[in-house]
Amino acid sequence: EKGGYEHFMLKEIYEQPQAIRDTFRGRMRVKEGIIKMAGVDDHIDKFINAKRLVILACGTSWHAGLVAEYIIEELVRIPVEVEYASEFRYRNPVIEKGDIVIAISQSGETADTMAAMKLAKEQGAFVFGVCNVVGSSISREAHAGAYTHAGPEIGVASTKAFTTQITVLTLLGLKIAKAKGKISTSDFHMHLEELNLVPQKVEEALQSNEQAKKIAEVYKDAANFLYLGRGFNFPVALEGALKLKEISYIHAEGYPAAEMKHGPIALIDEQMPVVVIATRRGHYDKIVSNIQEIKSRKGKIIGIVTKGDVTVRDLADYVIEVPEIMDSMSPLLTTIPLQLLSYHIAVMLGKNVDQPRNLAKSVTVE
Ligand code: F6R
Repeated sequence: EKGGYEHFMLKEIYEQPQAIRDTFRGRMRVKEGIIKMAGVDDHIDKFINAKRLVILACGTSWHAGLVAEYIIEELVRIPVEVEYASEFRYRNPVIEKGDIVIAISQSGETADTMAAMKLAKEQGAFVFGVCNVVGSSISREAHAGAYTHAGPEIGVASTKAFTTQITVLTLLGLKIAKAKGKISTSDFHMHLEELNLVPQKVEEALQSNEQAKKIAEVYKDAANFLYLGRGFNFPVALEGALKLKEISYIHAEGYPAAEMKHGPIALIDEQMPVVVIATRRGHYDKIVSNIQEIKSRKGKIIGIVTKGDVTVRDLADYVIEVPEIMDSMSPLLTTIPLQLLSYHIAVMLGKNVDQPRNLAKSVTVE
């Protein structure tokens, strides 16, 4: 059942090229230059006229929502807000006519997400579900939706659900942008071509496994980790830290790289590994100067870089390479080595990777 892998988590990490392909297959027609999503097509006027998108989710799904915020605002030029479902539901939230609410949930059973979406529905929002489990409560409660086609995710730590959520939300963003005339035909085509290449690039990113293992060996006994990223990769830093916390029980924090100097920089010393996502297209010079700040305080630097990078390689203690890709799609690649790093650290520390203490696969209580 684990297909020759030692753990479900590792199997699911390796399933990502296929899971992403399954998620866009049948929806994205590259040659024709169209994206078909029944749940969007049936309500296209609502999407065209939406004044705002509000994304509701928890945990890793919330991180996928944050990535989507960056992508959709860039493509569609309407405000996107991303809310923890548990906060939204108890806050007397402002929902206005013309708001579209997107609930993201792998299991489709998360109690807080369910309650938050019901509240939004009562207040008149159109609710769109992005779930992995077909027929789940959230998918049934939504007015419309799009499934991620990740297949069953058994490891408690979410991996392929995250990357397929980002895939669906990218398709959604592209589709709305096109319907609203916010993207040129050639730009739209370019995005489709690029997305079509993602599975093979994820395959390539998975080749970082040995390097991730080597780095895990070096830093597995650290008491703390810091994860930094900017732009599209800021949420990836949060997700990297969450993965490490939940399966290895090592304390980790994710931060936007430039926020470091407003506090967390005080934590940095020679004991502190700092994972920095420093891909070439995303605010690269800014990230390089953030890396220099860490280095001058003797922090240990693990850089997630674009293939062929030399500048960060010179500064960092270790680097992991991912293929070159358009910035907005880079989270689909940069996430991979972070999943592998936390996996190997947890295995080396003898933790129960697939069923970490205190956690359940679906959180059906608030
Ligand atoms: C982290 C993790 C959790 C879930 C969260 C939401 O690896 O698995 O943070 O992402 O409980 O679950 P869903 O997506 O099922 O609503």
